Amino acid sequence: MVSNTNQPYTTLSNGIGMPLLGLGVYDMHGHEAEQAVQDALEIGYRLFDTASLYDNENEIGNALRNSSIPREDIFVTTKLGNDDHGYDAALRAFEKSLVKLQMDYVDLYLVHWPVKGQRKESWKALEKLYNDKRVRAIGVANYSIEFLDELETYATITPMLNQVEFTPWLFQGELLQYCQNRNIQLQSYSPLTRGLKLGDPRLIALAEKYDRTPAQIVLRWNFEHGISTIPKSVSKKRLKENFESLAFKISEDDVALMDGFNENFRICDNPMDMF
Ligand SMILES: NC(=O)c1ccc[n+]([C@@H]2O[C@H](COP(=O)([O-])OP(=O)(O)OC[C@H]3O[C@@H](n4cnc5c(N)ncnc54)[C@H](OP(=O)(O)O)[C@@H]3O)[C@@H](O)[C@H]2O)c1
Repeated sequence: MVSNTNQPYTTLSNGIGMPLLGLGVYDMHGHEAEQAVQDALEIGYRLFDTASLYDNENEIGNALRNSSIPREDIFVTTKLGNDDHGYDAALRAFEKSLVKLQMDYVDLYLVHWPVKGQRKESWKALEKLYNDKRVRAIGVANYSIEFLDELETYATITPMLNQVEFTPWLFQGELLQYCQNRNIQLQSYSPLTRGLKLGDPRLIALAEKYDRTPAQIVLRWNFEHGISTIPKSVSKKRLKENFESLAFKISEDDVALMDGFNENFRICDNPMDMF
């Protein structure tokens, strides 16, 4: 599926389209955040990933509202914070996010972390929001196979998306297969390892081979696997560089080579150690 911005979209299990590439907005605030969203829109980004935890829903909402792009052409994700779990608390948190975003719906609402104790009640709240058409899709983040198996025991709606840390250095092949088998779209966060692995000599060799940057090769690796990704940048140059990862291909052999970079390297906590 291709949008009017001529970028690839994926179709979620309920039939709605979502751009494969988006802007992650963690750790940007105030004018810097508004400018980044404005620049991204100009370049062609239509997917924006925020969270109540990022404390910038307001700025993201401002920038989107002040743009000339119609709301229905933009895909906005936000997330239920860890302190807002439980059925009623989750419904309240969602309303707060909407007010900050200055929107009357979000495209995708995610459980941010599989917090112990009330994740079932929280999921039931997300199902209600979906059934009431307050959100166009619902999903989870940081759900490894064990959490997804548990969710399956009580969910009446299968999550449409699972957002997890996923890079060549954290290649979770089993989780990818599990999600693909159930039509759960995988989306990778911290796809650029916050820069920490971009100097890997094996990656640099591939960048030279394709005459692309290391960041572009890593982002492209996601798309070759059918994975959506949401790199963060506040630099217009890098936003453009990252967007251009949509415009070339890498070979199956090189994808397999990069799968082999795995060393269980993580930026964020392993959800299995937390809950
Ligand atoms: N669900 C979750 O629990 C969870 C956890 C973490 C992140 N996320 C989401 O995923 C998004 C992305 O992850 P992230 O922000 O952790 O890390 P990331 O996207 O892997 O890396 C961002 C860092 O890389 C730099 N960068 C961006 N493009 C670059 C390029 N082309 N070349 C070199 N460096 C580049 C950025 O600097 P500049 O800004 O200076 O360009 C920034 O310092 C977040 O913003 C958030 O939306 C979700």
